[in-house]
Amino acid sequence: MIEGLEIMLSESRERQIIDFAKQYRQLMMIYESGIKQITTKLEILNEEYKVKGERTPIESIKSRVKSPESIAGKLERKGLEVSIPAISDNLYDVAGVRVICSYISDIYAVRDMLLAQADVKLIKEKDYIKNPKINGYRSLHLVVEIPVYLSSVVYPVKVEIQIRTIAMDFWASLEHNIRYKTIENIPEGVEQELYECAETIAETDRKMEEIAEKIRKVL
Ligand code: GTP
Ligand code: MG
Repeated sequence: MIEGLEIMLSESRERQIIDFAKQYRQLMMIYESGIKQITTKLEILNEEYKVKGERTPIESIKSRVKSPESIAGKLERKGLEVSIPAISDNLYDVAGVRVICSYISDIYAVRDMLLAQADVKLIKEKDYIKNPKINGYRSLHLVVEIPVYLSSVVYPVKVEIQIRTIAMDFWASLEHNIRYKTIENIPEGVEQELYECAETIAETDRKMEEIAEKIRKVL
């Protein structure tokens, strides 16, 4: 063995790791920028309602960039290598924005206002409100693409947007916690009970919508 080769190899490995880390940080910065743009658009829409003295359609906005652990886990599950192109080409939920609305009609109003904007391109849509999941989960899911302008290039970045009512969010948060914390041993009947809760909540959402409509008519 040539003397010093081992150290040379490990130095080039170190170089590779540093390069990957830099590219990873840049990619995450682009996803963060995509989140900021979508969040700003949503806040502007809400502000517009506010200055007109009208009820705002959005209650709150949450966002997150997927953790490195979750990114690696998802790539592995999909049988993909952990690389920068594999992330940007195959994962649509690295940038996630959750929009909480008061009423079901607000969800579709927000969707339409966002998608009417020229720089927002719809990539994928799943309506789990019209077609709830088997466990009762409800939300409107969009994957949109938005351009992020850097000094000399424009990156089209994908952002997953989940739009749901306060009631749907309440259910989804608790259901997620229950499933996440007790994945091995969910007691019997719990899934059915969760499903029933989702249906009760959906019924309440429908009633609240009717109340809102009645109030709109008399205002
Ligand atoms: P994945 O992101 O890999 O799940 O692929 P997908 O694009 O087919 O997923 P989908 O659009 O159905 O759901 C994406 C996200 O919605 C999840 O990461 C969750 O945040 C949320 N979600 C979907 N189903 C459920 C559910 O049954 N319960 C809860 N609490 N959240 C859900
Ligand atoms: Mg996901």
